[in-house]
Amino acid sequence: MDTIIRTRIVDLLKRTDFGAMVNVKGWVRTRRGSKQVNFIALNDGSTIKNIQIVVDLANFDEEMLKKITTGACLSVNGELVQSVGAGQAAEIQAREIEVLGECDNTYPLQKKGHSMEFLREIAHLRPRTNTFGAVYRIRHNMAIAIHQFFHERGFYYFHTPIITASDCEGAGQMFQVTTMNLYDLKKDENGSINYDNDFFGKQASLTVSGQLEGELAATALGAIYTFGPTFRAENSNTPRHLAEFWMIEPEVAFNDINDNMQLAEDFIKHCVRWALEHCYDDVKFLNDMFDKELIARLEGVIKEEFVRLPYTEGVKILEDAVAKGHKFEFPVFWGADLASEHERYLVEEHFKRPVILTDYPKEIKAFYMKQNEDGKTVRAMDVLFPKIGEIIGGSEREADYDKLLARVEELGIPMKDMWWYLDTRKYGTCPHSGFGLGFERLLLFVTGMTNIRDVIPFPRTPNNANF
Ligand code: 4AD
Ligand code: MG
Repeated sequence: MDTIIRTRIVDLLKRTDFGAMVNVKGWVRTRRGSKQVNFIALNDGSTIKNIQIVVDLANFDEEMLKKITTGACLSVNGELVQSVGAGQAAEIQAREIEVLGECDNTYPLQKKGHSMEFLREIAHLRPRTNTFGAVYRIRHNMAIAIHQFFHERGFYYFHTPIITASDCEGAGQMFQVTTMNLYDLKKDENGSINYDNDFFGKQASLTVSGQLEGELAATALGAIYTFGPTFRAENSNTPRHLAEFWMIEPEVAFNDINDNMQLAEDFIKHCVRWALEHCYDDVKFLNDMFDKELIARLEGVIKEEFVRLPYTEGVKILEDAVAKGHKFEFPVFWGADLASEHERYLVEEHFKRPVILTDYPKEIKAFYMKQNEDGKTVRAMDVLFPKIGEIIGGSEREADYDKLLARVEELGIPMKDMWWYLDTRKYGTCPHSGFGLGFERLLLFVTGMTNIRDVIPFPRTPNNANF
């Protein structure tokens, strides 16, 4: 076969220099046609769109043609021609075809229209489907959008450790990291495990958040963000929880809660706008296939100003709804941690736009949040989104050493884990704020997918760590 430099399909479909000889490589999506002419839809992952390869059967070897089956990998040399068929501008009149990889009829993606559940069982092959190609391309673009947003605003990308000895959220949902022999665990006279001889000489876990280390950086570099894998051993088998997910955590010195809310709103809007501008074909595909209101919802979020509402008022609205006969599965009262059905009621039914709920009861929030004068609430902020519920959680931080220490002691957090964090308040403390955005929650929103397992390539959930 002649050597011609390969062109990606996304670039080929933009070309109008018909008559040029080109090379494409990709995987066969479908093959149809008559005894004389066949049409192959080839996809190389560079776009949701396929390129059509027109094959005059008389010009090719019969044995080779037999190998062009759904899923097979081809290299095609041919002439770029203007397409007569509807739906595409250009196609390729094949001159030479090489089958790089055959694909027999055990290939599970023969027919279209597999269930999402089935595709999860073949997560090693699902990137070859239109749907997952679109989702993973959007995932990439969202990561770029995030770095771009912060870089342009002078934030530094700061790498926080994945292995840690502190439980940032204090929820005790950590995966332990150990090299101890689990078949021969040594315990002391009280029955406790002695970690002195473990790899780190102390009990260690996978991080649930990079925030505490992020605060160290923000109170030196000014504004930072983290973007990394995050682990939670919460046994919640819901469409919105993963045991391993990615989180973006900006942290900014001198920002108060209002600056923090504005940053969160600007940030999410930037990401959503980016998806519409840079991934329109993929978003449109998902809109048409799964969720006819997706694009309207994305455009709505960019246009609307987010509601800002204290928790106490949010609870009143929910209690009123209950009084008027609205049924929730979980009870709602002042002091309750809101369930996703409550969050979604506020967003989807009551306000019909995103809501930032603030000033939560301190008992249901983490120890580091700034305490309000009322002694009952803290300067927390959760951003609530249509279809998702909580997409961001954050707060202004307690900057006062004595108040923070009192809270640490009240909650019985061991000082041996916290002394370095408290030092930020001891040496040149300053007001500062930050938040965490769940990357996969953002992707749920932007793709319209309804299960978080379908926006990360290889989901980790209770009882599942395949692939
Ligand atoms: O509300 P969370 O627990 O807040 C923190 O971890 C803070 N340290 C963030 C900060 O202020 N820097 O988590 C933040 C976000 C949630 O709003 C949600 O979007 C996502 O992380 N998240 C999860 N996403 C997928 N699976 C899980 N199990 C998640 N837990 C939290
Ligand atoms: Mg939260």
